[in-house]
Parts: sequence; C-alpha cells; structure tokens
Amino acid sequence: MFSLVLAAGLLAASASAQRPSNTSVCDYYTTALLKDNNATNQETLITLLVNTAVIGNSTPTTANIKVPGILAANQTYNGTAVNLLPYFDGSLKSSNRGGESGVSINFLDDGAAVPIAKGKPADGESSNQYKLITHLYAYFGILLGCSKYSQPGFPAYNGAISMYKVHKFMALDPYDFGFFVQQVALSAASYGVALADLEIVGDQLYEAFGYRCSALNTFVPESQPALQSICITDDCLIEGNSTCSLYAKVQEPKRNGSATVTGTHHPSATSAATATSSKKSGADMTKTRSGSLVVIIALAAVCCLL
Ligand code: HEM
Ligand SMILES: *[C@@H]1O[C@H](CO)[C@@H](O)[C@H](O)[C@H]1NC(C)=O
Ligand SMILES: *[C@@H]1O[C@H](CO)[C@@H](O)[C@H](O)[C@H]1NC(C)=O
Ligand SMILES: *[C@@H]1O[C@H](CO)[C@@H](O)[C@H](O)[C@H]1NC(C)=O
Ligand SMILES: *[C@@H]1O[C@H](CO)[C@@H](O)[C@H](O)[C@H]1NC(C)=O
Ligand SMILES: *[C@@H]1O[C@H](CO)[C@@H](O)[C@H](O)[C@H]1NC(C)=O
Ligand SMILES: *[C@@H]1O[C@H](CO)[C@@H](O)[C@H](O)[C@H]1NC(C)=O
Repeated sequence: MFSLVLAAGLLAASASAQRPSNTSVCDYYTTALLKDNNATNQETLITLLVNTAVIGNSTPTTANIKVPGILAANQTYNGTAVNLLPYFDGSLKSSNRGGESGVSINFLDDGAAVPIAKGKPADGESSNQYKLITHLYAYFGILLGCSKYSQPGFPAYNGAISMYKVHKFMALDPYDFGFFVQQVALSAASYGVALADLEIVGDQLYEAFGYRCSALNTFVPESQPALQSICITDDCLIEGNSTCSLYAKVQEPKRNGSATVTGTHHPSATSAATATSSKKSGADMTKTRSGSLVVIIALAAVCCLL
C-alpha cells in the first residue's frame, strides 16, 4: 500500500508544470519535449507515443516507467490474461476485409519491432505494417488534438472511418481494451506526460471506443458519422445513448489453421492443447471504470520506482 501511494505521489510530483486549457495535449508536449511546435515535431511526438505503446520500452525511461507494449504476449490486465499479439501477427482470423467473417493478416511483415524501435513505422513503405502504424500516427494525432495535423509534415489519416468496422471481428472485451489503453497511457507517462493529462486521454479513449453499442460518432475531420465501439463483447459497459441494433452479433475470432495461440482468455482463439485462464465477471469491471487509470499507472510503475 505504501509503495502504491509513493508511486502515485512521485508521478504526480514529476508533472509540476500545468498544461493550459487552451492548448491540446499534442501541442503542449510537443513544445515541452521538442521545442518547436510545428507539424514535423508534432508527428514525431505521436510517433514516439505510438511506437512505445506498440513495442514497449526495453529500458525504463527517465520517468522510470516500464512499458510492456501492446505486442507483448502473455500479459495480464487486472488479474486476467491478455495477449493481443495473435491479432497482429496473423495467428487469428480477426481482420475485416469486407467479408462475413474475419481473415488472417500479418501486420508485422516489414521488420516487426526492429524499425519501430528506431523510430520508424516499418522498414519499407508498402507493407501491412507500414499502413497500420502510419494510420495509427495520423489517428492519434487527431485524438490528441495536434493543431498541425494534415499540414505538410504531418500527413492526414486515410484509413477506415469506423473503428467498429476495423475491429469488429476481433471481439475485443474490457480486458483487451483496458490493456491497450494502459499501454498508451504508460507510453505517455514514460515521456513525462502529467497524470492529469493521462487521465484525460484515458477517459477520452474509453468514452470514444470503450463502450459497446455507442451511437454514431465522428472523429476524423470532414468524415461522415460512423459506428466507433471497439470494446464490443457483452461485458463491455454500455452508455445511455446506445444503438445496439446497428451493431452485428459478436463473432469470436478463430485461429488461422494450426497457429498456436496462448495466454488469452478468449477460449475459441486459444489452442486446444493449452490452458485458458478464467476471466473475471463483467460486473467486477463495471464498478471500476472511472478514475482507475491512476491506479493502473501507479501499479505498473511500482516495479520500477522501488
Ligand atoms: C483506444 C483503442 C484503439 C484505437 C483508437 C485503435 C485505432 C486503430 C486504428 C486507427 C487502426 C487503423 C485502421 C485502418 O488502417 O483503417 C487500427 C487498426 C487495428 N487495430 Fe486498433 N485501436 C484501438 C484498440 C485496439 C485493440 C484493443 C486491439 C487489440 C487487438 C486493436 C487491434 C488492431 C488491429 C489488429 C488493427 C489492424 C486492422 C486491419 O487493418 O484490418 N486495436 N486501430
Ligand atoms: C491561451 O490563453 C493564454 C491566455 O490565457 C494566451 O496568452 C495564449 O496565447 C493562448 N494560447 C493559445 C494557443 O490560444
Ligand atoms: C520543425 O522544426 C524542426 C526543428 O525543431 C525542423 O527541423 C523542421 O524542419 C520543422 N518542420 C517544419 C514543417 O517547419
Ligand atoms: C506464452 O506462454 C506460453 C505458455 O506458457 C508459451 O508457450 C509461449 O512461448 C509464450 N509466448 C511468448 C511470446 O512468450
Ligand atoms: C443519440 O444518438 C443519435 C445518433 O444515433 C443522435 O442523433 C442524438 O442526438 C443522440 N442523443 C443524445 C442525447 O446524445
Ligand atoms: C494462415 O495459415 C495458412 C496455412 O495454415 C498459412 O499459409 C498463412 O501464411 C497463414 N497466414 C498468416 C497471415 O500467417
Ligand atoms: C480490478 O478488478 C477488481 C475486481 O475484481 C476491482 O475491485 C478493481 O478495482 C479493478 N481494478 C481496476 C484498475 O480496474
């Protein structure tokens, strides 16, 4: 208990300066970390954030925060096994290419972690990996309010508009989603983003994508409203203005051929020969959404601060 309080205290103390309310998270931290608040530097900031969220960091940064990374296999989120790697490496038939069910795609087809660790999206520019990672740069540039987004130096987003459509065959649940958001938050924390801003970003991600049946919404400038829920299983929270009738029945992804999938709590995705870990009931998560990010960050940081 003491270490938890200590960790939270240290984190809070590390963020002495305050972001003015008329400056976006993107603009503020671009100036703080890279000085010149221009398009190239804004994209660089988002690149740092996304790259570290995706592959983690091998050595804790100056902020002393260890980030496992979205691609790290055999993780846990709040006591439940999470493994997002099989959605990215083609082990699961979980990508939407317009059909009635998901297909297998390897998004780590262009150097995997090696170029990402060097600050690049991929080795080349014509791979699945390049497309996915550059789309994440642009999309997070929008979400974090980069003022120079779509200006020369920060290319605009040209991926799918509906986050529901993109993720619909993944059957993502509160643990998968929570782990993903936790990695984004830990990545930001590792670069010294203040706790108050981590909470704002975490809340924004939950509000936009973390509830099932969310009503039509628009995030990409000048695009039509579209369905945006990424957390779609029954145990995802639901909010007042929901439109479940617009969402299809959730399909659990199947393994691609005989691919080995371990460390997940999705029974149909996990190889028969390996044990599946149980997951907590949805009710447990329902009680604990708001304000939990502080706890999550503090818990994850305890390892490295002591
Ligand atoms: C806050 C949560 C999330 C956001 C904002 C987000 C955003 C995005 C964006 C912008 C894309 C690119 C879409 C395109 O290229 O058209 C994408 C693709 C993808 N995301 Fe997410 N994502 C989130 C959570 C997750 C989670 C929890 C997983 C877990 C496996 C995941 C797995 C993937 C995969 C595998 C793709 C590639 C899909 C494809 O090209 O078919 N995402 N995501
Ligand atoms: C934010 O507001 C302050 C005054 O409160 C002003 O000096 C500053 O120029 C504003 N910044 C932006 C980006 O509008
Ligand atoms: C942004 O500033 C950096 C120096 O901090 C410079 O190298 C870069 O060319 C500038 N980008 C633009 C689009 O002006
Ligand atoms: C995850 O755990 C399983 C079972 O313990 C193991 O076989 C597998 O190699 C692990 N995967 C990774 C990437 O560490
Ligand atoms: C609820 O969502 C619909 C779109 O599906 C929108 O037209 C309506 O304004 C929303 N109502 C509230 C109270 O947010
Ligand atoms: C899916 O499995 C098939 C055979 O089982 C294999 O040929 C193919 O490469 C796999 N796809 C991916 C993306 O790994
Ligand atoms: C984790 O789940 C437990 C219930 O099993 C709950 O009490 C706790 O608040 C949750 N923690 C977070 C960070 O969601």
